[in-house]
Amino acid sequence: MKLGIGNDHAAYKMKLQIKEYLESLGHEVVDYGCDSEESVHYPVYGEKVGRAVASGEVEAGVLICGTGVGISISANKVKGIRAAVCSEPVTARLVKEHNNANIIAFGERIVGIETAKAICSAWLDAKFLGGRHATRVDMMMDIENR
Ligand code: RB5
Repeated sequence: MKLGIGNDHAAYKMKLQIKEYLESLGHEVVDYGCDSEESVHYPVYGEKVGRAVASGEVEAGVLICGTGVGISISANKVKGIRAAVCSEPVTARLVKEHNNANIIAFGERIVGIETAKAICSAWLDAKFLGGRHATRVDMMMDIENR
């Protein structure tokens, strides 16, 4: 799968580890920054990955900041994005199965690297269940048109 990854300064180290992990699983990873621990503004990277996913430049995205919250809220401002913050793998599976989340987010200050890897693999392995969940996802996305 072609994945986009983005982060702020608080998550630079974890981004490098997660990028390597995703590549080890066979995914192509496009890195939208940031590229150091120098202080930056997370909305820049949330928007970049959000736009890359929404345009189809990449198939899905992974976002990491201190909590996962600011960068995911930023991505969710882009039309077509369903970015979900997760702190454990059960939620990560369910946000794909029920909400068809096209971006997963988590916080370097919240989860350890093994949990972060488990979150990514649970989300990547899961499949959207459709049916009644598709109705609800369509309803969510309709909000963007009103
Ligand atoms: C940066 O200090 C921090 O605010 C950011 O990484 C994130 O936690 C925001 O939601």
